[in-house]
Amino acid sequence: MIVTTTKLFQTAYGKFAVGAYNINNLEQTMGLFRGNLQSQAPFILQISKGARSYTHKTMLEGLIRSADDIFPESVFAVHLDHGDEETCYDCINSGFYSSVMIDASHEDFETNIAITKRVVDAAHAKGVVVEAELGMLGGVEEHVAVEEADAKLTDPDQALEFVERTGIDSLACAIGTSHGAFKFSGTQGLRFDVLEEIQKNLPGFPLVMHGSSSVPQEEVKRINDAGGKLLGAKGVDADQFKRASELGVTKINIDTDGRLVWTRVHREFFNEKPENFDLRPPGKVFMTAYADFIAAKNVYLGSAGQLEKIREILG
Ligand code: G3H
Ligand code: 13P
Ligand code: ZN
Repeated sequence: MIVTTTKLFQTAYGKFAVGAYNINNLEQTMGLFRGNLQSQAPFILQISKGARSYTHKTMLEGLIRSADDIFPESVFAVHLDHGDEETCYDCINSGFYSSVMIDASHEDFETNIAITKRVVDAAHAKGVVVEAELGMLGGVEEHVAVEEADAKLTDPDQALEFVERTGIDSLACAIGTSHGAFKFSGTQGLRFDVLEEIQKNLPGFPLVMHGSSSVPQEEVKRINDAGGKLLGAKGVDADQFKRASELGVTKINIDTDGRLVWTRVHREFFNEKPENFDLRPPGKVFMTAYADFIAAKNVYLGSAGQLEKIREILG
């Protein structure tokens, strides 16, 4: 069942976070639905602009509609990840997406507000919810001066003004994470001090954490042992998700970790069976491994076991 994030976030607030997982193809879609049912979790299926053009946006929609038929127990939102204004309108008008992210965080404050507000007006008119971003995600190198690193983080006072003036439904905050497999070069980590201030200014308002893959070292080692070259890869400690959710984070975005599962499975499979050239055997291993990965991640997020309650609330 496709839902907006409203009730998911209301139920999760202060207690757990809903996993938001990026999808590009059939195998990921199957693994995603299986893993969330395995762990009895509601979830957010996110589609990036790149994913929409990888095969075809209609192909992805078809996969998701089919998965919804095959797994009728599932409760999930269909969300555009890091949309520009034009893509947001395309998704809103499609009638398929229940949630969009407008990412104008690279613009100045006033322009970010103006673009975001236009998207919110269009989305709300069609019952679609909107996430927007304030602050700049990005790898913070250890040698970068504290003031320079801090300048990229979400300003808690601006956050309140941004939410009030745009009417968004959730806010993506920059609190020290970055996208990809190389998040921290040293001992940096999540900036809970900044998150605390944002929550103080926006009590009860759903916050979103991007760049939240954990980049498990065991996974990186297996990839490298099977011929990969991921040197210095590092992610967010999944044990910190609980604290983040207590501070108002209701959506945690994870893409890179799923890509690592794909890479590990395929590298190991063809290393062990160099004579093999069939796509289905590694595809089957991947679907199971991806489902197990999602189920395990949902335990860290606290969303595992919440499905029945959510179904009751949704009626
Ligand atoms: O935040 C970005 C997501 O990981 C999606 O990545 O744009 O390569 O699909 P992508
Ligand atoms: P990761 O690269 O840490 O998986 O983050 C994904 C993300 O934020 C998608 O919007
Ligand atoms: Zn992101």
